[in-house]
Amino acid sequence: MENPKEVVAKSALKYISPGDVVGLGTGTTASEFIKALGASQLAQKVTCIPTSMETEVLGKTVGLNMVSINDIEKIDVTVDGADEVDQNRNLLKGGGGALTREKIVAHYSKKYIIIVTEEKLVQSIGSRMPIPIEVLPFSYVQIIRELNLMGLSCQLRSNFITDNGNYIIDCRLNQKLLKGSLQEINNAIKIIPGVIETGIFINFNPVVLYYKDGIVSEFK
Ligand code: A5P
Repeated sequence: MENPKEVVAKSALKYISPGDVVGLGTGTTASEFIKALGASQLAQKVTCIPTSMETEVLGKTVGLNMVSINDIEKIDVTVDGADEVDQNRNLLKGGGGALTREKIVAHYSKKYIIIVTEEKLVQSIGSRMPIPIEVLPFSYVQIIRELNLMGLSCQLRSNFITDNGNYIIDCRLNQKLLKGSLQEINNAIKIIPGVIETGIFINFNPVVLYYKDGIVSEFK
């Protein structure tokens, strides 16, 4: 039986050209793309930027030329997965905890390709998964308290340290916040000292490729 993640991952190869600097996402779907790129004729013709240590290791294992984001001038295209995609192609990311590096790499990418399976398409961000927030360990209890007062219901992700040495707090939105402005929620979270980054990706204008019933389509 075909693997939907592998099918959608392979469909993203057409966005890569020889000579490109390619940002590589993190997660099970992004991993399928990394393996497909490594097995393709483009493998020796691209330079890749990882969004996590896990991705860096996988990229090297499949024979890709992995370099640091600080070693290049531009990123032509990044391919990554997502936990949720809403009607406006806003994203929720960070189920795997790599959200900060993923957001940085996406920010510097000219083209941003998101590969998902059908169940990731949602009405509103936060309806299926909690919102991951990367925070400094120093004041995480205070940050959780403040987020809870804002109407979020937050939990420290147990036994997890990010590649940046920080904690992840996973937050559910109440019904009122779910219907509210995503931008306002994101701003209110980001303003708390000690918050490094959120898994809410607004206005990245990605090309979203999704797998449904054996077919890959672009979500518009
Ligand atoms: C990693 O931190 C995440 O942002 C992943 O990209 C996201 O969780 C999607 O992962 P899967 O493809 O494994 O569902």
